[in-house]
Amino acid sequence: MKPRGYGFLLLLLHVLRAASYSQPILSGPIRNSTGEEVTFSCRSGNGYPKPNVYWINKMNNSLLIPSTLKFIPHPDGTYSVFSTLMVKATSNMQIECSIENEMLQENLSANYTQQKQSNDSSTKNVEKSGKVAQAAGIVSIVILLGLLAVLICWLRRRRSSKLLSYTETFFHLLDWKVYSFAMSTPADVISQQKLFANIE
Ligand SMILES: *[C@@H]1O[C@H](CO)[C@@H](O)[C@H](O)[C@H]1NC(C)=O
Ligand SMILES: *[C@@H]1O[C@H](CO)[C@@H](O)[C@H](O)[C@H]1NC(C)=O
Ligand SMILES: *[C@@H]1O[C@H](CO)[C@@H](O)[C@H](O)[C@H]1NC(C)=O
Ligand SMILES: *[C@@H]1O[C@H](CO)[C@@H](O)[C@H](O)[C@H]1NC(C)=O
Ligand SMILES: *[C@@H]1O[C@H](CO)[C@@H](O)[C@H](O)[C@H]1NC(C)=O
Repeated sequence: MKPRGYGFLLLLLHVLRAASYSQPILSGPIRNSTGEEVTFSCRSGNGYPKPNVYWINKMNNSLLIPSTLKFIPHPDGTYSVFSTLMVKATSNMQIECSIENEMLQENLSANYTQQKQSNDSSTKNVEKSGKVAQAAGIVSIVILLGLLAVLICWLRRRRSSKLLSYTETFFHLLDWKVYSFAMSTPADVISQQKLFANIE
């Protein structure tokens, strides 16, 4: 195969592997011994490729810097992500953890508001439609590849004279002499050749 064709195939495989992350789970805040700092953690799993993780202070929509960010690879090629955030304890904390899968243009988020305990918000609709679109894409590509394979096999078989003679023997065995004769009339052969000339 030509290098360019190979690159395209790799890209196709990469896109087909894209997988939605699970709904992130935000836990915390956990106060440290002095109670001045609190730690939040956020986890999500089974996605591909590696996500972007955003911690957002919803009070003023500023981005916060995580204290840890870990990607855990799984044998099936997907990743889990685990991140922690340490912030000074304040009243009215509103924290959001957002997991972005750039390839699927998907952002899943979980938020924490001080009044109530951690509350899963999010873009579940986006998640669902993303999954459906992805599934439809895979199915149509698989069908297309299948049709292509069948077409190629069919063309090869039709061109192989060896196989044609097998087919004739088969028809003779079944005593379908008339049918086999009709199959190999010169007119038929010529029209088949024309057909292939058009396809190729
Ligand atoms: C708790 O947070 C304060 C403020 O940052 C820090 O000085 C202290 O070392 C922390 N304590 C523990 C046990 O992590
Ligand atoms: C957002 O608010 C926090 C306090 O809640 C403050 O420390 C931070 O500087 C603010 N960021 C911006 C960009 O205003
Ligand atoms: C996901 O959220 C982040 C942070 O708010 C934003 O920068 C990014 O553009 C969002 N991506 C999508 C696909 O919505
Ligand atoms: C999140 O909190 C809101 C009110 O703040 C509530 O209406 C909603 O049902 C909660 N969602 C979940 C998933 O618990
Ligand atoms: C958290 O999620 C709930 C439910 O979707 C939403 O109503 C609320 O506004 C969110 N809180 C923040 C701070 O974004």
